[in-house]
Amino acid sequence: MTTVNSLSQQAVMWVEKYRPQTLDEVIGNEEAKAMLISWLKNWKPGSKPALLYGPPGIGKTTLVHALAKTFSYDLIETNASDIRTAEKILHVAGHAAFEDSLLQHFLGFKGTIILFDEVDGIHGREDAGGLEAIIKIITQAKVPIILTANDVSDPKFRELKNQCLSIQFFRVRPPLIMALLERICEMENVKYEKEALKILAKVSGGDVRSAINDLQAIYERSGKITIEDVKVLSPRDREITIQKALEELFLSDDIERVKRILNEVNVDYEIFLQAIHDNLPYQYKNLEDLASAYDKLSMADIFLGRMKRTQNWSLLKYVIEEMSMGVNLSRKGKYTPIGFKFPPSKLILMARTKLTREVLDKISSLIGKQCHVSRQRAIRDFIPFLRVIFENNPAEAKKFASWFNFTEDLSSYLSGKSRGFIKK
Ligand SMILES: Nc1ncnc2c1ncn2[C@@H]1O[C@H](COP(=O)(O)OP(=O)(O)O)[C@@H](O)[C@H]1O
Ligand SMILES: [Mg+2]
Repeated sequence: MTTVNSLSQQAVMWVEKYRPQTLDEVIGNEEAKAMLISWLKNWKPGSKPALLYGPPGIGKTTLVHALAKTFSYDLIETNASDIRTAEKILHVAGHAAFEDSLLQHFLGFKGTIILFDEVDGIHGREDAGGLEAIIKIITQAKVPIILTANDVSDPKFRELKNQCLSIQFFRVRPPLIMALLERICEMENVKYEKEALKILAKVSGGDVRSAINDLQAIYERSGKITIEDVKVLSPRDREITIQKALEELFLSDDIERVKRILNEVNVDYEIFLQAIHDNLPYQYKNLEDLASAYDKLSMADIFLGRMKRTQNWSLLKYVIEEMSMGVNLSRKGKYTPIGFKFPPSKLILMARTKLTREVLDKISSLIGKQCHVSRQRAIRDFIPFLRVIFENNPAEAKKFASWFNFTEDLSSYLSGKSRGFIKK
């Protein structure tokens, strides 16, 4: 029996639902935990910031949140890779230091902790300022600062490491993960075999987040966690083609099945959304069904855009719901699938126009070199005439090609031989 209520409840991601709220709930890395607590207890202005580093999914970010909560600190979280300029970071930090005294005074807060999450997300030249800015701030810190990173082995982090108390985090041991999975099963009323949880914990490679995600995926697929169910988890089995995924999405009457499709299809959400969009008018003939499905799809699109902008991944469940169940349930009548088309038309178009743009850029820059004209003028005044010549008079075209230094590719574009591919 499937009620709307149980559906929306299951759409909650367990990694969020069971995110530890207290320090004790964060499993593993006891030593690192103790170091961090003692660092905070002894912190005074001038103390070094703490740098927590280690592989993803082991609770670094969660631990910082739990720490702030336990010791009544206000936490300002900054995703380092989102911050482009030193000014912005300085502003955030300065603001926090100022607010501290107010909050302390009026609300009894001990103060503020600034979290720079995933500082190794800062890369490339454009972000060099970001890393420098962080180093500048942490060396003049008036509030406790915690940084997290996955991997700081690159030499560019040397200075950062020098300025911090580095605390290394390790993968979480499988028995601990297994115990956590067992607790989650109990709380979710999920039937399980211990041996299956053991396998899950083991294949997670010490990554708690992916262990929980796998547990939920299997449960949503099979309704229980047995050794048999866990076996199907091998990555190869999980992937289905975009054709198969579309077919099930449009066709299936099993709504539980529909929700899982997006976990299994091996393309990113944006492409899949585009594929649904492109295929819908061929699949749903009833206009009301079609309108409703597009409505759901546009909601998914809005959530997806917002999620990407804000990096708020908890929106993903809405994206998935609208895209899968929303579209599937929009169909009222019977349905017989007809052929699907992909790759999505928009992507083809983008690839095409990108190619065209590149070709036009090359041609117009060569024209510009010889004739000293702008790109616009080359495209507007020269290329149409060259096209006529290249299409009709190969001998003359050859002379122009050599004078302008056009490559074969560019010549065949102008002659229309490759235009069918490049541009319609
Ligand atoms: N040590 C842990 N104990 C309990 N849950 C964990 C632990 N590590 C990760 N998790 C689960 O995985 C999710 C992501 O953890 P997170 O703190 O973001 O990892 P990291 O910052 O190390 O990448 C959490 O919401 C939680 O559900
Ligand atoms: Mg993190």
